Amino acid sequence: MTKRTKIEALLKSSQANIDVTVKGWVRTKRGNKNVNFIALNDGSTINNLQVVADPNIISEEIIKQVTTGACIAVHGKLVESQGAGQKYEVNAESIEIYGTADPEKFPLQPKKHSMEFLREIAHLRPRTNTFGAVFRIRHAMAFAVHNFFNEKGFCYFHTPIITGSDAEGAGEMFRVTTLDAKNPPLNADGSINYKEDFFEKETNLTVSGQLEGELAAMALSDIYTFGPTFRAENSNTTRHLAEFWMIEPEMAFYDLKDNMDLAEEFLKYLIKYALDHCADDLAFLEQRLIEEEKNKPNTEKSEMTLTEKLRFVSENDFERVTYTEAIDILRNSNPNKKKKFQYIVEGWGTDLQSEHERYLVEKHFKKPVILTNYPKDIKSFYMRMDEDGKTVAAMDILFPGIGEIVGGSQREERLDVLVARMDEMGVPKEEMDWYLDTRRYGTAPHSGFGLGFERLIIFVTGMANIRDVIPFPRTPGNAEF
Ligand code: 4AD
Ligand code: MG
Repeated sequence: MTKRTKIEALLKSSQANIDVTVKGWVRTKRGNKNVNFIALNDGSTINNLQVVADPNIISEEIIKQVTTGACIAVHGKLVESQGAGQKYEVNAESIEIYGTADPEKFPLQPKKHSMEFLREIAHLRPRTNTFGAVFRIRHAMAFAVHNFFNEKGFCYFHTPIITGSDAEGAGEMFRVTTLDAKNPPLNADGSINYKEDFFEKETNLTVSGQLEGELAAMALSDIYTFGPTFRAENSNTTRHLAEFWMIEPEMAFYDLKDNMDLAEEFLKYLIKYALDHCADDLAFLEQRLIEEEKNKPNTEKSEMTLTEKLRFVSENDFERVTYTEAIDILRNSNPNKKKKFQYIVEGWGTDLQSEHERYLVEKHFKKPVILTNYPKDIKSFYMRMDEDGKTVAAMDILFPGIGEIVGGSQREERLDVLVARMDEMGVPKEEMDWYLDTRRYGTAPHSGFGLGFERLIIFVTGMANIRDVIPFPRTPGNAEF
């Protein structure tokens, strides 16, 4: 196959008047009987390459097949463009048609489509400017995650997707089984006999790699996981997926403050990386948001553009406050006093709703907030008990427009305290013996956190719905493709 040059490289070329072959998908074709202009995109950049097709050189038969969505190869000369809008264009000497796209049937038209419509045509979704930009940024962020930890000497550790434990104890798991759903083997008492199942026990898709990650941190010191995570919670929101990706670092010899410092540095690094490496895609997404905001009432318009917001977060310190301080702020807040919150904040000990988190971040502090030391009763069993016996060394990072983006804690490394907590919370110790062993043999103070990858991508791209930052979203009632 003739070797092609990617459009991203061509548009950055330092010389013109060279022979090139480009391959890609036609975005638009316009022109007249004297000349045709084809906008070609190959996904390497948001920018299209203009191909000029002269009917004296390219036959009418070929030109007819060059329609929106068709895939073509163009051989020609890269020249400096006469027209405005691009530095270079290609004068076609020959065009090969790889795949036509019947204009009568092609579902993508050169106009704005709704996000809902595009979700239904997953094979064409990546060919739009918006999703091209989102998926290139998603890639850049995944790469930056590995870069960050690799530079710090962390070990990328693979935790299982099929698991026999419920890490968060929240019970929102998808069962994995090969038993016949219509006719499962039963025990004498009528319950399902999982001894006859594939793994000879109940298994599920993982909700977190943390517990397995802790085992690794107790040997390799600094590790991180980065993989798919599954939650069967029936939350039909713009912030929840049933299948999402999570990054979970786990560090030996880190206390809660070290943990917060790392998480803040990590988030700032990722956002700065996007600003430095995804400028064209961010510029497109920023413009898209500006257009969208034009239809909004003034009170709902954001104060910052997308890149201003990213710069602001990457350059300013996050606010660190305890849960107890946050409850005081919320109790005395206007929306609480005027009963504007859906859930009124009354006393210490209640869990925060996303309206409360967003008030703290967007109205009160106007910057990212790290909330620490939550009441033990609303957090997981593995979090380290504070001196007061009432709170635990937890930390959640709250972002503007998102709410919780990171959840983490210092871990309870004292065997007796951990066991007491498990008993108190009804966590089955027998099944967790492998985990408790870390506390029996060479236990160490340690900490970790989880970053929801898609929530990060929402923040960086400014997309409104988490379904639109993952190629194939899984949500209640949706598992297409
Ligand atoms: O707060 P979570 O549940 O924490 C854990 O799973 C810990 N084991 C992490 C750790 O300490 N190693 O989840 C962590 C993050 C959340 O802050 C959120 O960003 C994201 O994962 N998340 C979701 N993202 C999309 N859809 C969902 N259903 C999510 N649930 C959590
Ligand atoms: Mg959480």
